[in-house]
Amino acid sequence: MTAVGIDRISFYCPRYSLPLTALAGARGVDAAKYLEGLGQEVMAVPPPDEDTVTMAAAAAQPLLEPPAAERVALLLLATETGVDQSKAAGLFVHGLLKLPARCRVVEVKQACYSGTAALRMACAMVAQDPESQALVIASDIARYTLGSPGEPTQGCGAVAMLVTAQPRLLTVEPHAGLHTEDVMDFWRPNYRQAALVDGKYSTRMYLHTAVQAYQHYTQASGLGLSDIDRFCYHIPFTRMAYKAHTQLAQQDAGPAPGKRELDHAVGHSLTYNRLTGNTYTAALYQGLASLLDTCPDDLGGRRIGLFSYGSGCTGEFFSMRVCKGYRKQLLTQRHRHLLADRTELTFQAYEDILNLRIPEDGLHYEFAPYRTGGFRFAGMQDHKRCYEVVT
Ligand code: CAA
Repeated sequence: MTAVGIDRISFYCPRYSLPLTALAGARGVDAAKYLEGLGQEVMAVPPPDEDTVTMAAAAAQPLLEPPAAERVALLLLATETGVDQSKAAGLFVHGLLKLPARCRVVEVKQACYSGTAALRMACAMVAQDPESQALVIASDIARYTLGSPGEPTQGCGAVAMLVTAQPRLLTVEPHAGLHTEDVMDFWRPNYRQAALVDGKYSTRMYLHTAVQAYQHYTQASGLGLSDIDRFCYHIPFTRMAYKAHTQLAQQDAGPAPGKRELDHAVGHSLTYNRLTGNTYTAALYQGLASLLDTCPDDLGGRRIGLFSYGSGCTGEFFSMRVCKGYRKQLLTQRHRHLLADRTELTFQAYEDILNLRIPEDGLHYEFAPYRTGGFRFAGMQDHKRCYEVVT
């Protein structure tokens, strides 16, 4: 069977941020609750001229040096921050990146799980036609009601992955552990900007789903935790990954893992998320990029276990193998620079940005330019979103 998987992975986050110490100060909360209790330090904040589309295009751009772009026959954009009820956000990305006309473009949704659904579908297409390539992008803005318990877990960002045959970064293994249940732990009706969440219930559902999906994976693959070298979990906030790994370790009838063991298993996957907050569909893959970029050990030949969770809910536990010589494929310097070179917002500026609404009257608007990546959400005209390339 042809090996299929991720040839390159690229992460993007907007150029503005809010330290969680500032949020804690403004909300009268002990900062240790956010920094240690949730394990978050900084929240990425999108300026008014960035959205799901501009973040997705900026994440994908470095993967598409010619001739890679010409072979992209499928673009799947996974998001729960869609910009239109009908037109796929990926079509704007397709235009901005000048991708070939002979290409399928579809938007995929199931809360934070849909990046994994998209990756699976892309792998299936490439397995059938190994000459083709697929671009999978996960892009999201995590937003809760201001002042609510979810507020410190907000964030945003995008991850793009080029899926190919004979990949040079990661091979996706076929076994899958699945768990689905119709529950209301987190949702966002079409008329709301911010998500609604039953916070404590959502964390219980996440852990329950992780255990069920992992048990299915072990039955399907015959593999257990000792066959897996590192773990990436969906990361609503970094402490959640520690809790999930503790649960899974106990499924193999072992003792609860100590701090050193936990840090070894999940620590490097959490570095980027701690500095951006939740990126919903992108969070698991941002964790994967973080692990590959920041782990000092050579992971070539090692197996990574991944747990993808989408509220509502569907979860999947699956695994990948890291390719030998994978480091040549990484965009580590670019990712580090993106996270280091951001403008820190005042608390007032943060609230002003989150309270802004896109005009809905169909008139012509040109949005003021902020710091962005290579693309801007430049304005509205006749209810159409207008994007431009930043020169
Ligand atoms: N110093 C250190 N730690 C402190 C502290 C202090 N002063 N005060 C509190 N803490 C600790 C608490 O003990 C707790 O840790 P444990 O869970 O290990 O006990 C942690 O900080 C959080 O405190 P609370 O549980 O009291 O926090 P909360 O109830 O105000 O909010 C939350 C937590 C429910 C996760 C909330 O942030 C939320 O609703 N977030 C959005 C929903 C979410 O992220 N759910 C995750 C699962 S769903 C999912 O994964 C999909 C998705 O992406 C949304």
